[in-house]
Amino acid sequence: MCGIVGYVGHRSAQDVVVEGLRRLEYRGYDSAGVALVAGDRVEWRKRAGKLANLEKLIGEEPLPEVTIGIGHTRWATHGAPNDVNAHPHLGNRRRVAVVHNGIIENFDDLRARLEEDDHQLSSETDTEVAAHLLELQVESGVDLTTAMQRVCQALEGAFTLVAVDAEDPDRVVAARRNSPLVVGVGEGENFLGSDVAAFIEHTREALELGQDQVVTITRDGVEVTDFHGAPVTPKAYHVDWDLSAAEKDGHDWFMRKEIFEQPHAVADSLLGRRTRTGALQLDEMRLSDQELRDIDKIIIIAAGTSFYAGMVAKYAIEHWTRIPVEVELSSEFRYRDPILDYSTLVVAISQSGETADTLQAIRHARTQRSKVLAICNTNGSTIPRESDAVIYTHAGPEIGVASTKGFVTQLVACYLLALYLAQVKGTRYGDEIADVLHQLEAIPAHIETVLSRADAVYDLARAHVDEPTVLFLGRHAGYPVALEGALKLKELAYIHAEGFAGGELKHGPIALIDEGQPVLCVVPPRGRDQLHGKMLSAIQEVRARGARTICLAEEGDTAVAAIADTVIELPRVPVLLQPLLAVVPLQLFACELATAKGHDVDQPRNLAKSVTVE
Ligand code: F6R
Repeated sequence: MCGIVGYVGHRSAQDVVVEGLRRLEYRGYDSAGVALVAGDRVEWRKRAGKLANLEKLIGEEPLPEVTIGIGHTRWATHGAPNDVNAHPHLGNRRRVAVVHNGIIENFDDLRARLEEDDHQLSSETDTEVAAHLLELQVESGVDLTTAMQRVCQALEGAFTLVAVDAEDPDRVVAARRNSPLVVGVGEGENFLGSDVAAFIEHTREALELGQDQVVTITRDGVEVTDFHGAPVTPKAYHVDWDLSAAEKDGHDWFMRKEIFEQPHAVADSLLGRRTRTGALQLDEMRLSDQELRDIDKIIIIAAGTSFYAGMVAKYAIEHWTRIPVEVELSSEFRYRDPILDYSTLVVAISQSGETADTLQAIRHARTQRSKVLAICNTNGSTIPRESDAVIYTHAGPEIGVASTKGFVTQLVACYLLALYLAQVKGTRYGDEIADVLHQLEAIPAHIETVLSRADAVYDLARAHVDEPTVLFLGRHAGYPVALEGALKLKELAYIHAEGFAGGELKHGPIALIDEGQPVLCVVPPRGRDQLHGKMLSAIQEVRARGARTICLAEEGDTAVAAIADTVIELPRVPVLLQPLLAVVPLQLFACELATAKGHDVDQPRNLAKSVTVE
């Protein structure tokens, strides 16, 4: 997830672009860059770190005063967040400059072909490939619009590309596939942005682009085509959000926006995971297949929500690989003198990549000669830098303090790790792995379905605004989901909430159940095992003592419908993948209940986004 701006008009392009980037900085802040067309040259500046670093650079090395340009703030996916990998990227002759959001899945192949033809690519990014390809096209004599159409036909994955050509100082050309891009329509000027926040200071008239479309903006107009050049009429709309709502895509909180981004985040997390031969690959793997085959134990370490992702991972890894997995709070790990050696793989899960407890735990593991694999959302952060291998979660920046899209993408990364180990160790056949990947690929659409029923969850949340205690029950992979549901409610609504394993109730916690006590139950899908039936028994037990049950159950589960006070339906998926769906209503519930109580959902009391103290 990155921020993208394009401008052509009568104002200073540098001012419009840098201001637009400031509005989009919440989308990425690893690096920033601008490219302007001046005379018959492209002039560009780019710098790692926040936008302020770029502004300082421009202060030292001013850019020409021109009226056409593009800009970018980056959330790194391919390559570390450094100056070289910062956007814009340029072609061989420095004629075309490009900024990009998304992942070009076949960039390895395209890069190999370019290098065979003596192209010098200086960065580790997938974007640079697009710059070279576009430049090859314009050098062959076609205009930038045609070049973009042709190049996009050759790209796989999800991308927004915005480009300028030094020899065509009147047009900015962009394209989108599965990645956001909107057009701002002005008078004698036009704008491009990842979202309307990039330009609503200048115009509130916008055009919505469809999938696989190319847009050309000039001072006088906007033209849209599909990737084959056929004209398309874009949908015009008026933006009536203020700036703060625009940054949140019209939502009241970043957290709510991030909950609604989850279909996209999961899809992005799955992109680029296959090699040319279809085998799974990780982002940065500094462990050999033999080292992975030698692993006889896995210890997952994490904190908070990431810890619950680790608990789900245990079920998946053990089931698919038969490697024993322990899950440990990172703050506890070092102090119990864990049994570690070279055949133990330590998996550190951290959204921020900076959590001090987790960092100290991986340092301890490495002193014991164990290998460390990080699952992280923040490219270039300390935890992945100090690990032997990394799977990035590609969720984009998470601004709300409470983790949401961070969690679901951690789950995706955990499933990918489990499947990767199964592939290397040969504990699952290739077609079984492919089956699970297909099921994962269907998850974004399922999350959309769950989100489309958000209003019913909001009604429920508002009805519980005065509850002093809410309990959560789950079994198997649904148990960590219950814990996560309780954590969300505690941290956002400041309500006492606890999660229990369904089978554990009768060993004590059932004493808490009183007349009218709300209990949210994560019901496993109906399957061949006894999980579903056992969960029904737990629901009956609390009902018999007066609890009001709100059950998250798969569609068509008549057995649950018959005994629940309220049912929240989930699309049918295998039990191991159900956490990806079941957590969503719990996030919505906590977000809405905290809103109804008048709390600041994005910045709950006493919490910080990255906890850098032990
Ligand atoms: C809860 C939450 C925290 C974090 C925890 C670990 O919503 O966000 O519990 O999950 O502080 O943080 P990371 O994943 O950055 O290591």
